[in-house]
Amino acid sequence: MKRKAVCPGSFDPITNGHLDIIERASQLYDDLIVAVLVNPEKAGLFDVNSRMSMIRESTAHLSGVTVDSFHGLLVHYCRDQGIEVIVKGLRAISDFEYEVQMAQMNRGLTGIETVFMPTGPEHGHLSSSLIKAVSHFGGDVSHLVPAPVLERLRERGED
Ligand code: PNS
Repeated sequence: MKRKAVCPGSFDPITNGHLDIIERASQLYDDLIVAVLVNPEKAGLFDVNSRMSMIRESTAHLSGVTVDSFHGLLVHYCRDQGIEVIVKGLRAISDFEYEVQMAQMNRGLTGIETVFMPTGPEHGHLSSSLIKAVSHFGGDVSHLVPAPVLERLRERGED
């Protein structure tokens, strides 16, 4: 049976840290869905369609990877899509506490498992928020985001 997993997140925008996790997870599962949360309470810098386009372009070299969006509970999305595993990247111990809480809650709700993958050390300090802040004030983020993201940031005058 094909193993299907999800990498969920806000991806506003996708960073090289996210991409590292997606690339490595795509080696472990037959089908990997990168799922962008639609959160009406949080506008973000990029709309969901732009976030999805940037992810699609950044993962075009990977087989078995598709991009989607979801709203509501992640576990309901997983149930509807036949997804068996949630893959999450862990940067530092600070991520651990909340991520474990979510993993335990999600497993308690439907039995779905969460697999944690440590980010590469070179990506341990990356977050979409930090990248947006640095880019907004003219800092160089070209080594921190995939090319399609850099292009969008430049179009918006955010670099
Ligand atoms: O990139 P982020 O913002 O850290 O991703 C967090 C995300 C989207 C994975 C998480 O907030 C989530 O799963 N949200 C969906 C709503 C949900 O299922 N909440 C209950 C979690 S226990």
